[in-house]
Amino acid sequence: RALRAYVHALPKAELHVHLVGSASLPTVLELARRRPAAGVPADADELAAFFTFRDFAHFLKVYLAVTSLVRDRHDIHTLVTGLAADLAAQNARYAEVTVTPYNHLLDGMSADDLLAGLESGRAAAAADHGVELAWCFDIPGEKGVKAGRETLTFALRERPEGLVSFGLGGPEIGVGRAQFEPFFTAAREAGLRSVPHAGETTGPATIWSAIHDLGAERIGHGTSAAGDPALLEYLAAHRIPLEVCPTSNVRTGQVRSIEAHPVRRLLDHGVLVTLNTDDPPMFGATLNGEYLAVAGTLGLSAPEIARLARSAVEVSFLAPARKTALL
Ligand code: ADE
Ligand code: ZN
Repeated sequence: RALRAYVHALPKAELHVHLVGSASLPTVLELARRRPAAGVPADADELAAFFTFRDFAHFLKVYLAVTSLVRDRHDIHTLVTGLAADLAAQNARYAEVTVTPYNHLLDGMSADDLLAGLESGRAAAAADHGVELAWCFDIPGEKGVKAGRETLTFALRERPEGLVSFGLGGPEIGVGRAQFEPFFTAAREAGLRSVPHAGETTGPATIWSAIHDLGAERIGHGTSAAGDPALLEYLAAHRIPLEVCPTSNVRTGQVRSIEAHPVRRLLDHGVLVTLNTDDPPMFGATLNGEYLAVAGTLGLSAPEIARLARSAVEVSFLAPARKTALL
């Protein structure tokens, strides 16, 4: 009980959360009611079953079905403000939110609608919830280099306020990181930070590629680094943080349980670990819940938990003065 209050009170930053994956269950149900053709259940019990994932590939299929529910600026605004309210309820003051423009445009949304919804939502997040949001625009890897090129073009042409980073999501199996090198190089030259997913569903070689080919400054997940002592040493020495999402990994079948999660090994090797939710309602995750689960499993002391929370602020892409204000 006391630990729960302690974790809640820590000012937190969420560095790995997908906008579509942050849609609350009531929001998903409402969107599903309006758009039955998407095949997403509009009944709460059926939706809970729909969000029970057989494996990672199944999760991605479901994720794309939910993406297809999101059609216009109003929907985007609803997602952004809903996420801000949920973050505020966790006492998270700042989040870097992954948006996948290519998928929304492919589903028929206009660029104007996407940008207008992000802008109005971000302003409302600050004004109504006191939550600062930044954007990561990411490539849906399964759609290949065309998606890479178009995501880069969109990001650099539109450059919305708050855009800080460039990412790569979707499956890793059969989707080599290196093919996206030109887009990450251009994004980095334009001042965006590199935060690809790597080592969530494949081994350490993918993380090495994210570092060497994509100039990764943080790694989305990166959990398979635990199996490569040289990589662990490299991540620690070069202070490349991992955006660890324990409940996500359990729910997509990447690890058996929180107890079996390699987060302890990562910490023991001096790797900078941050705790994140990935797609919270889809996984039944909350940011405070991730801290409590890891603290409970590893038997962390209060100062160790506080250090984890502070570490997320420190390795965020917030301006230094804003970090100080948060810490
Ligand atoms: N898109 C949404 N969540 C994701 C995840 N955990 N990995 C890759 N792509 C994603
Ligand atoms: Zn993710």
